[in-house]
Amino acid sequence: MGEGLKGKVAIVTGASRGIGKSLALTAASLGINLTIAARNEGPLKEAAAEISNKHKVDVLALPCDVTQLVDLENLANKTKEKFSRVDILINCAGVSSQYPFQNQPIEDLEKLAHTNYLGYVRLIRLVINDMIKQKSGAIINIVSGSTLVDPVPRNFIVYSSLKVGLRAFSKGLFWELRDHGIKVTSILPGVTDTDLTGKLENVTSDTSRLMSTKAIEDAVKFALTVPANVCPLEISVINQQTPWVAPIIPFKQQHPDK
Ligand SMILES: NC(=O)c1ccc[n+]([C@@H]2O[C@H](COP(=O)([O-])OP(=O)(O)OC[C@H]3O[C@@H](n4cnc5c(N)ncnc54)[C@H](OP(=O)(O)O)[C@@H]3O)[C@@H](O)[C@H]2O)c1
Repeated sequence: MGEGLKGKVAIVTGASRGIGKSLALTAASLGINLTIAARNEGPLKEAAAEISNKHKVDVLALPCDVTQLVDLENLANKTKEKFSRVDILINCAGVSSQYPFQNQPIEDLEKLAHTNYLGYVRLIRLVINDMIKQKSGAIINIVSGSTLVDPVPRNFIVYSSLKVGLRAFSKGLFWELRDHGIKVTSILPGVTDTDLTGKLENVTSDTSRLMSTKAIEDAVKFALTVPANVCPLEISVINQQTPWVAPIIPFKQQHPDK
């Protein structure tokens, strides 16, 4: 991977809106053909039409729920049927929720784990042997800047600890696969202006502190265009005034007596 991305093939999950859509547009701007995936077909097809009209690349829009193994298998298989290969996987489909742990519904824990951790890892498993055969490939995992906070942000611990696990997995995977010419990069975005953050309490009260997707697009472009013998393992792109620490963990919550 590196120079000459024109005509390569990428799968981008969570590409109907938000960060995933912006990354699908970025990949398309480099001449990469795409399979884009998300659950809701309407917005996904609209995104596909926008991307292919703008960048004149081939875009397959495939409805897929990343929590379902059968959907992930279909995503990998249909991409290979249409394009004969998968060069790049951008795992981005994700959900978020904010709860004091004792109030967090069990179903919510499971949804987070199946989407934000297993959804990523299973899809990598389904394409990795083809990349190994090709002796090249790039995997980009959209993790989270909340993994930089230790302990992970209060009321956000299931989401963030799964992302910590994903970050550890990604780094380990790089060491395991580097001799096969495969790159694995984690992107750690700060709080970004998407529908996902719109649902988080406290985080968006001051919208001037939210990032646009631009820095994440640039980080992914960098990861895909560095020379073949280089792999950026992790790229953090964090808000200048990050909204996690203050609004999610107000000092008074930790020190109610002061
Ligand atoms: N926004 C931030 O501040 C921020 C910061 C750090 C990391 N991230 C990470 O970035 C990723 C994208 O976040 P975002 O802010 O772009 O969210 P978003 O605007 O809510 O978009 C989420 C995308 O994922 C898809 N999706 C959700 N659940 C899915 C499922 N089960 N199967 C397939 N697709 C699914 C959605 O489409 P459907 O609903 O149609 O399925 C949509 O296309 C997530 O992994 C998130 O954890 C976000």
